[in-house]
Amino acid sequence: MNPLRDGLIKERVPAPQVMVIFGASGDLTRRKLLPALYTLARERQLPSPFSVVGFARRPKSDEDFRGEMREGCDRFARRRPVDETLWSSFAECVFYQQGSFDDAAAYAALKTRMEEIDAKLGIPANRLYYLSTPPSAYPTIIDNLGAAGLVSRAYEPFTRIIVEKPFGRDLESAQVLNRQVKQVFREAQIFRIDHYLGKETVQNMLVFRFGNGIFEPLWNNRYVDHVQITGAEAIGVEGRGAYYEEAGILRDMVQNHLFQVMSLVGMEPPISMDSNSVRDEKVKFLRSLRHIPDGKVDEYVVRAQYASGHVLGESVPGYKEEPGVDPQSTTETYVALKLLVDNWRWANVPFFLRSSKRMPKRVTEIAIHFRQAPHQLFGNGTGKGPVPNVLSIRIQPNEGIALHFGSKIPGPTTDIAPVNMEFLYGTSFGNEPPEAYERLILDAMLGDSTLFTRDDEVEASWTFITRIHQAWAEQKKKQIPVFEAGSWGPSEADELLGEGMHWRRP
Ligand code: BG6
Repeated sequence: MNPLRDGLIKERVPAPQVMVIFGASGDLTRRKLLPALYTLARERQLPSPFSVVGFARRPKSDEDFRGEMREGCDRFARRRPVDETLWSSFAECVFYQQGSFDDAAAYAALKTRMEEIDAKLGIPANRLYYLSTPPSAYPTIIDNLGAAGLVSRAYEPFTRIIVEKPFGRDLESAQVLNRQVKQVFREAQIFRIDHYLGKETVQNMLVFRFGNGIFEPLWNNRYVDHVQITGAEAIGVEGRGAYYEEAGILRDMVQNHLFQVMSLVGMEPPISMDSNSVRDEKVKFLRSLRHIPDGKVDEYVVRAQYASGHVLGESVPGYKEEPGVDPQSTTETYVALKLLVDNWRWANVPFFLRSSKRMPKRVTEIAIHFRQAPHQLFGNGTGKGPVPNVLSIRIQPNEGIALHFGSKIPGPTTDIAPVNMEFLYGTSFGNEPPEAYERLILDAMLGDSTLFTRDDEVEASWTFITRIHQAWAEQKKKQIPVFEAGSWGPSEADELLGEGMHWRRP
């Protein structure tokens, strides 16, 4: 099935525009952004006319840049091999502009270049900027764009800006960055990206909950016992040791990706699917998270580091042995949290989140654990009685949804065995789901910010996370627990759960 061809997807065609990628020499441009643009071209979803200008410090010709991007598409585009004819016409709209982020003259040159492209292709000065540089360069680029007259606050022609993560490293820096960017752009022009929101399965959370009548009545503290959200990766820090030392997994994965996923699980139904209605509900949910009481951080948050071990059959070094990592480091590469939500729907239903590098496998999953039946008729303590009812929503890989429940084992007894009802995207829809960046770039081109984080949302999640970092800083621990790479994490994390409860082994 091709959902676009079969009319299941409405075509959404953005207006002609020039996109400028700041930090075009970086990995993200080659691995994700250009392959996403190429795939959009292939699916005929790019605006027409359209052009993309890579902006970075290193001197390079348009041809050099196209060659590098072609190599990136050959390796990373979703649809491979790259189609020669399509690539030649796509490459004609790819340009490179050399410049330093702090050099006003470089922005004047960029302006001239874009005006030439506008005139040649007939583009009405619509602009989409993409900040894919180290975050320290964001304020300089934003100020220079403003000073060079490259930002119009008008609705037409439009100017928009996509800001890569991380958006700040704590509440204060996120607030400062929000103020800086809003001095030049209106909130509606700002697209703070979180690539998890571009994943099909994450978006399906809204459809699953609010497009069906049967799940929502169960989605509350009367029927749900607790929720587990797991973001596990088999990879380590992949040469990003120095970055990880500054970040840690709480900043790298939880403040953004896992909190976004959790908000979609926990939010109230929005009054409509417009961007502000959806984000209003997500912010409300984040604001209802109960702050961890002073002095109790260890009762709610477990942090740890991977030691050496074996992952997927390979022997791997421990975090402290990774290049760029301090041998005395106390930076967490594993974190598990117990979160309580102070609102009517979720009172007394804990949300358990965990994320880690060097787990046995890569899996991102939401698991809704339902309460047991109020009165037990089967099993009589034989171990063949009721099994927990769990709804597991697999975000990646093997995207799908499964309901786990108990069924009578055929035969003369009423013994119960766990069974599943399962939906798999691959089986139902055939096609591989689009890459997150394809959907998100297309949405920004269309001006639809539903799947991007709003200023107050980013600040609400940092408010919660920053308090944990502050509590950790006060503890001044000289070491944190370690666990063997390739295992499911430290035993301390089991104590976060109540008696008789277990982390899932997805
Ligand atoms: C990024 C993090 O935002 O997300 C990485 O910086 C992490 O550390 C990655 O590996 C995970 O993304 P995905 O899409 O592979 O789950």
